[in-house]
Amino acid sequence: ALAEDETPEEIKSLADARAAIDGCRRCPLYEHATQAVFGEGPAHAEVMFVGEQPGDQEDLAGKPFIGPAGQVLDDVVEKVGIDRRRVYVTNAVKHFKFEPRGKRRIHQRPDAGEVAACRFWLNLEIGFVKPKVIVALGATAATSLLGKTATISKLRGAPIEMEDGTTLFVTNHPSYLLRIPDAEGRARERAKFEADLVLVRDAA
Ligand code: URA
Repeated sequence: ALAEDETPEEIKSLADARAAIDGCRRCPLYEHATQAVFGEGPAHAEVMFVGEQPGDQEDLAGKPFIGPAGQVLDDVVEKVGIDRRRVYVTNAVKHFKFEPRGKRRIHQRPDAGEVAACRFWLNLEIGFVKPKVIVALGATAATSLLGKTATISKLRGAPIEMEDGTTLFVTNHPSYLLRIPDAEGRARERAKFEADLVLVRDAA
């Protein structure tokens, strides 16, 4: 068996990792998901956004951030003027975790073991893409990247210099914005999200 942090010899590039991920058995989430969803974007993007896990639509399409949360992310990225051609998007966990409810599949948060198991793939993406700036979208991504439980409100608003030389920013997950029921609260949180991405733009 492979040690947790050992990279199989055949994985020498981002393309190799992408080709290998559907065979991942590091945690049980592969059993019910449609497919693994690897990151997307330029091979040497300067900015890497890390979400939680694919949602329902991403699971079916095999691409990250194409559903409602991805729309919010795209809108704000464009609004603050981050060049989409310099952006790689991925997730802390590559398989969709859900609970079936009738015909619907309800998102479930990945647990600490699943996040830790999938760090293997995120490490490969970071290692091959070598982004200058990484943005953790939400607590799951922040916890994965920092290796300890992370609180958004305490960490957002300032760069975190990582040991590997990358600069980490922590902000909310865009789907958090979509869940806020009142328009005023939603606008306020969206403004904070935009302010965080302005910091990202200026650091990249
Ligand atoms: N939410 C995420 O965290 N990632 C996606 O790819 C889609 C929704």
